[in-house]
Order: sequence, then C-alpha cells, then structure tokens
Amino acid sequence: MTEAAILGFGIVGSGVAELLDRNADRIRERVPGEIHIKYILDLREFPDSPYGDRIVHDFDRILEDPEIRIICETMGGKEPAYQFTKRALEKGISVCTSNKELVAAYGPELIAAAREHHCSYLFEASVGGGIPLIRPLENCLAQDRIESVVGILNGTTNYILTKMERFGSDFHAALKEAQEKGYAEQNPEADVEGHDTGRKIAILTSLAAGRTFAYEDVYCEGITAVTQEDFAAARAAGCVVRLLGVSCFEGDGRPMVLTAPFAVPLSSPLAMVNDVFNGVLIRGNMVGDVMFYGQGAGRYPTASAVVSDVLELALNEGRWIPVRWENGEKTEPAPIGERRGVFLVRTAAEDRERAAALFGEGMQELSAGQDELVFLTGELSEAEFADRAAGLPGLRSRIRVLR
Ligand SMILES: NC(=O)c1ccc[n+]([C@@H]2O[C@H](COP(=O)([O-])OP(=O)(O)OC[C@H]3O[C@@H](n4cnc5c(N)ncnc54)[C@H](OP(=O)(O)O)[C@@H]3O)[C@@H](O)[C@H]2O)c1
Repeated sequence: MTEAAILGFGIVGSGVAELLDRNADRIRERVPGEIHIKYILDLREFPDSPYGDRIVHDFDRILEDPEIRIICETMGGKEPAYQFTKRALEKGISVCTSNKELVAAYGPELIAAAREHHCSYLFEASVGGGIPLIRPLENCLAQDRIESVVGILNGTTNYILTKMERFGSDFHAALKEAQEKGYAEQNPEADVEGHDTGRKIAILTSLAAGRTFAYEDVYCEGITAVTQEDFAAARAAGCVVRLLGVSCFEGDGRPMVLTAPFAVPLSSPLAMVNDVFNGVLIRGNMVGDVMFYGQGAGRYPTASAVVSDVLELALNEGRWIPVRWENGEKTEPAPIGERRGVFLVRTAAEDRERAAALFGEGMQELSAGQDELVFLTGELSEAEFADRAAGLPGLRSRIRVLR
C-alpha cells in the first residue's frame, strides 16, 4: 500500500480522491497495491463528505507521519504551497501538483530539491489540465530539438472568444456568460489579461529549453480589446481569433515568447479548438508537428493528470524522476521587436494612400468600406511594423497572424 495525502480539498483535490477510488481496479493494474489517501489538508471541515474523517488542518501531522510517501498539492497559490512542498521534498516525500503559479515561480528549485533528497516533483496538471503534455514533451519528444510550441492554453479566454465569434457578443457579455457558467472567476484578470497563458507558455518554454524562462519575461497582451470588427477582419483573411501562447527558438537558441490574440488560419488545427478546450502544437526538428488536444481544466480532467503523476511517483518510490529544467541561469528572451511576422490591420479608410506608401508591395488589401480599410502586411519585424503603423493616424487595431 502507498500512503498519500492531498493538500487542498477543492475542485481538483476532491476530484483526485474520487478518481483514486472510482478507478481503483484500473489503477491496480498499473501499480500493484492500493494507493490510499490517509490525510486531506484543508482550512474547512467537510462533515458530509465520505472523506470527511481524513481532513486535518495541521500540515505537520502529514509531514511527521513516516508512512506518507506522496503528496498531491492542489491548494493553489504560492504560499503556503511553496513552504509545504519544499518541506515535504526535503523529507524525501514526492510531490505532484496542479499549481501552475508555483511551478512557474519555483519549478526548477523544487525539482532540484527533489533530486537532492531522492524523491520527485511532478506537475503534469499544471499546463493543459487533463491533456498529457509535460510527460510526452519530457519523454516521447526527448530526442527532438523543440523548434516551437504554440498553444491555446486557457479555456476561459477560448470560451469567450468562441462565443464572440459565433454569437456576435461583445467581450463583456461573453465574459459575463463565462462567469455565470463557472468558467471564469469573479476576478478574471489573470485569464483575460493573458497572465495565465503566460505562466503556462513559460513552463513549456523552460522544459523545451531545459533552463528557466521566467514568466515575467513573456511579452503579454490579453483579449480585452478584441472587438467584433477584429473578428470580421480575421474572417476576411480566412482566420479565427484565438489567444495563443507562442514560443519559438531563434537561430541563436534564444526563445521568442509571447502571449497575444492571433489571427489563426482556418487551415491550422488550432483553429478547430473551440469553447473551453485547449490545444497545443509542438514542432520538433525530427518529428515535425505534434498536436495535443483536450480539456484544459475541470475537476476530473485535471484530477486525471494529477493521478497520472501519482502513479508515476508510486512506481518510482525513492528515485528522482528526471525533469530537464536546470536550476541555474535564466534563459534570456529574444527581444520582441525582432520577431518577424505578418499583421492583420484595421485602419480608417482615409489612411488608404498612406498605408500603400508605408507597407508597399507586400500589402494585401482584404476589404475597404467607406469607413474602414482592412489589410495584411508582408512579413515585417515587430519594430518595423510599429514604425510604419505610427504613420497611420486612423489605426484601429492590429492582430498578429499565425504562420
Ligand atoms: N479547477 C481547475 O479546473 C484547475 C485546472 C488546472 C489547474 N488548477 C490549479 O489547481 C489548483 C487548485 O485549484 P482548484 O480549482 O481545485 O482550487 P479550489 O477549488 O479553490 O481548491 C483549493 C482548496 O485548497 C484549500 N486551501 C487553500 N489554502 C489552504 C491552506 N493554507 N491550507 C489548507 N487548505 C487550503 C481551499 O480552502 P478554502 O476554499 O477554504 O480557501 C480549497 O478547498 C490551483 O493552483 C489551480 O490553478 C485548477
């Protein structure tokens, strides 16, 4: 029997306990012997829950029980999750987590602590919810050089953008609906401003590079300024609008990492990722494009990913499971101004001659009404685009086009 504990009996933590029970027979086929949840740490009591008798409020009770071999941290936030995780690893207890905030901030330090104390720190559920992503990247794609990672990594914003696209709602109406359905938090800032996607693309970039890419270095734009007119312009270009986390490794090895709304061509598999679903396209130098798709959040999908880590930890007790993410110098980002790409532009109709002069032969006019001109630029760097766009007094929006 492997004794385990859960920290935080919320949406994910309660799903982990339930999944281990409901699928116990299936799990036994993989890991002989039972995986038993001995303690659940939470602030509240849960008198009506079948797990209510396992609730404790003092972390030291878990830490001081020599039978505990695995901890699932599903509390969220940096503190006290960081202190609890570190103390557990220092005692040789393996930890798995769904907490992307903690992984983005302290991932390499906690991986190194696990290595030093002959246990493991795993975080499959921290990116892409239920989608197997981190382990395939670490194991199945270990032999490839990762050239790019492009993902729809936040279900809330994807739901909002999909609603805006299908039903013509404006951003605020779509956000309200997402909140009513429980897909968006009452304070949606981390989602709609792109910070959640930023944390996840920073984690994936760090794993692809093998060194920390700090999430503070992700260039970040959210979706609050996206309008119906942007959707119409994207349609004219044969695209849909999606919030992407994008990470490309430049020739000199520096990652170019950004989170922003993109016009995604209908021919891209990412254009088919709708509602709360997530999709991630990874390009390896040998394997080519590999697509991962599934539910990026929710009780059971996320619990499924946490429990996949639990099984891995149970099978590797007393060993460090390697994660290629060195706790050393940060990877410097390539400056955003150097990024090259095509831009979808909306500007006032009076700017037509100026636009033609500024953007030259590469410019492709898509539609020109009495009021508005919509066009695609040729390939430009971000800095070149900003210089030229400054010459358009009627500029309304620009969206990067995914290549
Ligand atoms: N929900 C999802 O679909 C999803 C998907 C992927 C990743 N995640 C991540 O998984 C983590 C957990 O998310 P969640 O949605 O399950 O959150 P949640 O429902 O709020 O659950 C967190 C639980 O931890 C408890 N808790 C908080 N601080 C504690 C402390 N100091 N000591 C003991 N218990 C404490 C909370 O108690 P109170 O309620 O009393 O504060 C709550 O019961 C987060 O990092 C989140 O980003 C969630």
